[in-house]
Amino acid sequence: MDKFHIVGPTRLAGRVRASGAKNAALPALTASLLTDAPLTLRRVPHVRDIRTLQKLLDHLGVVTEETGGALILRRERPNPEHDAPYDLVRTMRASVLVLGPLLAKEGHARVSLPGGCAIGVRPIDQHLKGLTALGADVQLTHGYVEATAARLVGARFRFDMPTVTGTENVMMAATLARGTTVLECCACEPEVVDLANLLNAMGAHVSGAGTETIVVDGVESLGAAEHAIIPDRIEGGTYLIGAVLTRGDVTLEGASAADLAPLLDKLAEVGASVEVSAEDIRVQGAGDIQSLDLETSPHPGFPTDLQAQYMALMTRADGVATISETVFENRFQHAPELARMGADIRVDGGRARVYGPKPLTGAGVMATDLRASACLVLAGVAAQGETVVDRIYHLDRGYEGMELKLQKLGARVARWSVPMS
Ligand code: UD1
Repeated sequence: MDKFHIVGPTRLAGRVRASGAKNAALPALTASLLTDAPLTLRRVPHVRDIRTLQKLLDHLGVVTEETGGALILRRERPNPEHDAPYDLVRTMRASVLVLGPLLAKEGHARVSLPGGCAIGVRPIDQHLKGLTALGADVQLTHGYVEATAARLVGARFRFDMPTVTGTENVMMAATLARGTTVLECCACEPEVVDLANLLNAMGAHVSGAGTETIVVDGVESLGAAEHAIIPDRIEGGTYLIGAVLTRGDVTLEGASAADLAPLLDKLAEVGASVEVSAEDIRVQGAGDIQSLDLETSPHPGFPTDLQAQYMALMTRADGVATISETVFENRFQHAPELARMGADIRVDGGRARVYGPKPLTGAGVMATDLRASACLVLAGVAAQGETVVDRIYHLDRGYEGMELKLQKLGARVARWSVPMS
């Protein structure tokens, strides 16, 4: 199991390029199940979640070829079961994104209930309710979802809460349904918009993505398309938070300032200098960082996927910051690890109070989920002395070459590969 060995403190400074968004690439790859024609996807990040999904897609008959920096996916040999077995699904919750496309295209899908990050219960009831509203017969047996429909039929459906992958799953299914589907209370995340753009390039009729109401006029079939995945706002945002945490100066290339607005506003409020140009975003950490409360919420609110990194920042801020996590119920697992590095954090249910500023000191810490890992790595870069972050496989799920990017910014980070005993 790999670890990161970090010697701090260092001031992060320089230029770094955002990779393609993992959370936009995952549904884009599953859209290959909606068509017999090839999909050409550019800017797909080299991260473990993508490789995990490729294995599952391979099982479902999708042949993937990588040429000239693009992934070309084509379902050439569909397996008659249309099944996503537990072994291939358990490590990644987003595997459930194969359900909507398979059902819509093949009339049948059998998908294991997913696993994923240990950050809450994370049910998929909204995915299933949405597909049921489109006329699917959905049964839960032996840990599997079994869904059947001769052909899905357009309907009006309102999600009980905005769910990103839920919106994506039902939106994909609706593209091949007979008639019009109106989805209400949809997630408005940029990744949903990116998927809608891809589906439209394939010949779908999707409108309203990025708002709470998405309308899909079903078509008979979808065709080939070429599409570039949007930049990863969470990955890019992580380096920008690192700039402020280490009083550094980081320029993020190729990112969308509009998608990062909730973070950029916050960084300016805590006292950083934020400059946005057509090509890049430059963030400089000033002398003192102000403590500021934070509440996560669905887009366009502050993303839950940057909450852990923001908590690392608040350990070095002047005053007390209350961080409220409203999206997931168990997403403060980084708090006790930060405390091992000298932070003073008290967690009470969905709220954490961070008492700053506290000097951080290097320690051995354990990554518990994807974004918690990023938080601990940033803290290690800012801390005095040596930090070893264990269970880096969580980080590898979603950050492309993080140690290389951090090294380029001046951090002393090395990957230690430890053979499994
Ligand atoms: C996606 C992102 C993840 C991010 C999250 C919230 C991907 C691959 N992952 O996850 O990085 O942290 O959005 O921005 O895009 N819920 C239900 N029932 C459902 C679905 C969701 O109760 O059927 C609840 C969840 O438990 C959670 C909330 O809705 O409390 C939002 O979750 P959701 O948006 O679905 O997260 P994911 O799509 O899994």
